[in-house]
Amino acid sequence: MTPPPHPPLSRVARDAGEGKCSIVVFASGRGSNFAALLTAQQRGGIPVEIRALLSDKRTAPALLLAENAGIEAITLAPRDYADRAGFDRAIFARAAQFTPDLIVLAGYMRMIDAQVVAPWIGRMINIHPSLLPKYAGLHTHARALESGDTVHGASVHFVTAELDGGPVIAQVEMPIERGDTPEALAARLLPLEHRLLVACVDLIARGRVVLAGHAVELDGQPLRAPLRPLAAQ
Ligand code: GRF
Repeated sequence: MTPPPHPPLSRVARDAGEGKCSIVVFASGRGSNFAALLTAQQRGGIPVEIRALLSDKRTAPALLLAENAGIEAITLAPRDYADRAGFDRAIFARAAQFTPDLIVLAGYMRMIDAQVVAPWIGRMINIHPSLLPKYAGLHTHARALESGDTVHGASVHFVTAELDGGPVIAQVEMPIERGDTPEALAARLLPLEHRLLVACVDLIARGRVVLAGHAVELDGQPLRAPLRPLAAQ
């Protein structure tokens, strides 16, 4: 079944209250990317309103970060549902109650049912710790080292039914040093991820980046390569 087309995000965002882009964040763990978005919002650096943090893990530290910031923190447990699709329908229905312009997957460690993803295409992004299309899935840092890569990085992409496979909006690169371990790479990449995610959310919230069909557009022009928003800084 073909899902109904969505209005471009730029139009949705302009319709939101006070001109802010409303956001729901999904996280399964630590929540440092969520915290980076929260800090940027609190400083007034990005025109967004984070309305809720949803998790599939009751013990996710991200939930506490949200509660401490006065943001609604909600957990739904997968084991309470008959199957993956049932859980996905439930958690996205809960998210929809906050009428988000944008859903941000920030360390949300679950695959999502294709039919549940479909209505959110163009309105949902994910941060992934690799230079996509390299290393979709898990253990990205170890896989980059095993492959002998000299450069590693992170990507933010629009979410489609394909795991870590949607159109890439932006990336950040960093060199791999001699003697690097997966843990060292993860630690060095994380602060860059935070800045990359904030930069991408900012571009989307301002209506500058949208998904048009399969192409990411910046200011109405299709991207020929992923943006490098941190490169000039
Ligand atoms: C990040 O490395 C993100 O790229 C990946 O999972 C990690 C989540 O970290 N998808 P945090 O929970 O945001 O601290």
